[in-house]
Amino acid sequence: MRAPATLTDAQGHSLTTTTAEELKTARRRTLSLLEPVPEPLLERQHHDLLSPVVWDLAHIANYEDLWLLRRLGDEGVCDSHDGTYDSFLHPRMTRGGLDMLDLAGARSYAERVRDRVLDLLQREGSDGDEPLRSGGYVYKMVVQHEHQHDETILAALNLLPEGYAGLQGTAEAQGSGDAAVPAPDCLVRDCLVRDCLVRECIVPAGTYVVGTCSDPWSYDNEGPAHEVELAAYAIDTLAVTNAAWVEFMAGGGYREPSVWTEKGWAWRQEAGLERPLTWEGDGSGGWVRKRFGLTEPVPPDEPVQHVCWYEADAFARWAGRRLPTEEEWEVAATCDPRTGEKWAHPWGDQPWRPGLANLGQVRMGPGPVGANPQGRSSVGCFAMLGDVWEWTSSRFEPWPGTTAFPYREYSEVFYGGDHRVLRGGSWATHPTAARGTFRNWDHPVRRHIFAGLRTARSL
Ligand SMILES: [Fe+2]
Repeated sequence: MRAPATLTDAQGHSLTTTTAEELKTARRRTLSLLEPVPEPLLERQHHDLLSPVVWDLAHIANYEDLWLLRRLGDEGVCDSHDGTYDSFLHPRMTRGGLDMLDLAGARSYAERVRDRVLDLLQREGSDGDEPLRSGGYVYKMVVQHEHQHDETILAALNLLPEGYAGLQGTAEAQGSGDAAVPAPDCLVRDCLVRDCLVRECIVPAGTYVVGTCSDPWSYDNEGPAHEVELAAYAIDTLAVTNAAWVEFMAGGGYREPSVWTEKGWAWRQEAGLERPLTWEGDGSGGWVRKRFGLTEPVPPDEPVQHVCWYEADAFARWAGRRLPTEEEWEVAATCDPRTGEKWAHPWGDQPWRPGLANLGQVRMGPGPVGANPQGRSSVGCFAMLGDVWEWTSSRFEPWPGTTAFPYREYSEVFYGGDHRVLRGGSWATHPTAARGTFRNWDHPVRRHIFAGLRTARSL
């Protein structure tokens, strides 16, 4: 029998205790999302690209069974579910037809796995010498996996036909209560975009570090850290707002082929894209949106969300700008061109707390742009983490020298396709899965995710 790890974190807690709390926090969050919703709606598929929520719950349990019990040497709870809950065997659009556990069965499976995991953790600790155990890696992977599926569950619940009390954030909306940090004036300036004043951050040409070799939470696709040469560019201080999107719509952005790529224009016509997913006219020239079953006016000062990559790319071109590459995005989020330093987060290396970024479902949606000034990046960008994922121009490709670990199916099998990279995390992303180097990717037609954009231009 292995001895429990005796390492401690910055607060003096043992890693075993911290890991157990992280697992429990993720599970409390998962169950709190299911609690307010009637069972038939959890077992229904609400969108071709989203699983029934009960599938997500049992898949979370199955992943934990595989990676924390069977891969660490325990006998596991059940291998007869492996086929049903293998995401590679069943594309999302087919999952509604699977013979799967009902809600009680999925909850029971998740509970039995978790009880055994906590026993194992108590017996052996989370740390170990082999790569899978080093620094508690595989436990962090499983915690992140559950939180990532919680964001997917939120995307499904966002499409519910009616609202349910209890589907709200874990606290009142965090505001911008902190005192504003001094603006790094030399890196921020104003310019005109279609007669609108836009504040942008200037990033000088230089050699910058992208990726990480050391973040204990990072996935294989985030490493290794490597240097990139960037030409000078400007990037929006703020994400593109709903108000700006209304300008795009009113200004003919959806009707002007010249601002769309050829594939984008074909998709815009085929799918009938005319406005962000969930938006409808309010009958008097304004716009409303439906979220979690409730209809509300579109707030002008929030970042736009539920636009696909084709729309984001068209908006940027319509504005006379472009999407940033993911390298440009990461440098603007994490690097200080004046000192050469690179940080894990826009605000530095310290862990997230409310007031730094709108993450972790603290607020059940994006906040107004310009909030949380303490979370600004070194070059002056607001909300590079949280609020909405941001589409970049980059396709999802491996960083030079990367190695798949611990399994190819997380990233490697997606390299080289038509996926575009998203950065930054949304209001629904848990802080354990939000950092300056985190790479997300999706097909250019996807709109159900909590994604928006900010634009850039070369100097
Ligand atoms: Fe998964």
